[in-house]
Amino acid sequence: MIGRQSRTLFMSLLLVGFFSQAISADKQNENTDTQAEDVVSAGDDALIGDFELGEERYNQTCVNCHGAAGKGVASFPKVSGNELSYTKSRLETYRDGIKIGSNSSLMIMMARPLTDEDIANLAVYLKEATN
Ligand code: HEC
Repeated sequence: MIGRQSRTLFMSLLLVGFFSQAISADKQNENTDTQAEDVVSAGDDALIGDFELGEERYNQTCVNCHGAAGKGVASFPKVSGNELSYTKSRLETYRDGIKIGSNSSLMIMMARPLTDEDIANLAVYLKEATN
C-alpha cells in the first residue's frame, strides 16, 4: 500500500522529470537549428544529389562538350572525378555569370538554367562517373 507521503514524493518526481525533459527537448531543438544553419552555410553536402538524375541531366547537354562520363574532349576539360564542393562551386560561379577561364562564356550559358538540385545531382554524378 502506497502512503500519502510517498505518493506526493512520487508525483513531485514525475513533475521534475517532466520539466527537465521539456527543457532538454528545448535545448535539442536549439542545437538542431544551429546544425541546420551549419549545413546550409558549409554548402558541400547541403543538398544531397542523386547520381541517376545527374547522369540524365549530364547526357542532355553537357556530354556534347565534355564527352562520355565527363572524361573531357579536346579543349573541353575533364569534369569527372572531382570533389562535390569543387564541381558545385564551379557550376555556381558560372551560373552567377562569373568567368573562370578564357572559355567561360560557353559554360556561363550552359550553367544559367541549372537549379540547385541540378547542380547537386551533377556534382554527385561527375564525382563517381566512370567510362
Ligand atoms: C558548349 C560546350 C559546353 C557544354 C555544353 C558544357 N560545357 Fe562545361 N565547360 C566548357 C568549357 C569550354 C569549359 C572551360 C570554361 C572556362 O574556360 O572557364 C567548361 C568548364 C566546366 C567545368 C569546370 C571545369 C574545371 O575544372 O574548371 C565544369 C564543372 C563543367 N564545365 C561542367 C559542365 C556541365 C555540368 C555541363 C552541363 C550542364 C556543361 N559543363 C556543359 C564547355 C561546355
